[in-house]
Amino acid sequence: MTTVIGIAGSLRRGSYNAALLRAAGELMPAALQFEAGSIRDIPIYDGDVEAEQGIPPAVAQLKNRIAAAQAILLVTPEYNGSIPGPLKNALDWLSRPPADMPAIFTGKPVGVIGATPGALGTALSQAALLPVLRAFKLKPYFGSLLYVSGAAKVFDENGRLVDDAVRQKLKTYLEGFARFVNE
Ligand code: FNR
Repeated sequence: MTTVIGIAGSLRRGSYNAALLRAAGELMPAALQFEAGSIRDIPIYDGDVEAEQGIPPAVAQLKNRIAAAQAILLVTPEYNGSIPGPLKNALDWLSRPPADMPAIFTGKPVGVIGATPGALGTALSQAALLPVLRAFKLKPYFGSLLYVSGAAKVFDENGRLVDDAVRQKLKTYLEGFARFVNE
């Protein structure tokens, strides 16, 4: 079975990006088995902690889950026109030590989507992730784009996707991504 691990880059309880990740899990084509990862317990990167204590358990566990998956779906918020700190911090920890990276990331298909209550649909944070994906030697899916704007109306108060047009766009994105992953 081809597994995709999805990671939302927000810790907020009512996160639109976590809601988008849940919706992606529900709409995932049968060709991909979905599981959700979490950045919640990942501490702030500190080189002294790494040198003295090694990789924190939450990081090691997420690395293992990513290694076991055949693809990654990142769901990113946008902060100040770029990658939110918690997501960038998690990615920085996941890149340690560099010797582990080839087995976990090199050549692995990755999709990037995101949601914002603003107007530009996380276009800037998705673009800001590209150099990071390159550093990880991931294989980005460029076949379609998903920029979810006006998120306060796209999701209801329970975090359910209630906008049919966005649901259709998400389905189209995931179908293309599934084909890309299984190529
Ligand atoms: C934001 N927000 C935001 N939105 C956006 O579209 N472009 C931006 O540059 C920013 N900048 C920004 C900076 C900071 C520090 C915060 C806290 C927020 C709004 C952001 O999209 C909104 O808070 C989302 O709800 C965050 O995503 P989650 O937590 O709902 O997944």
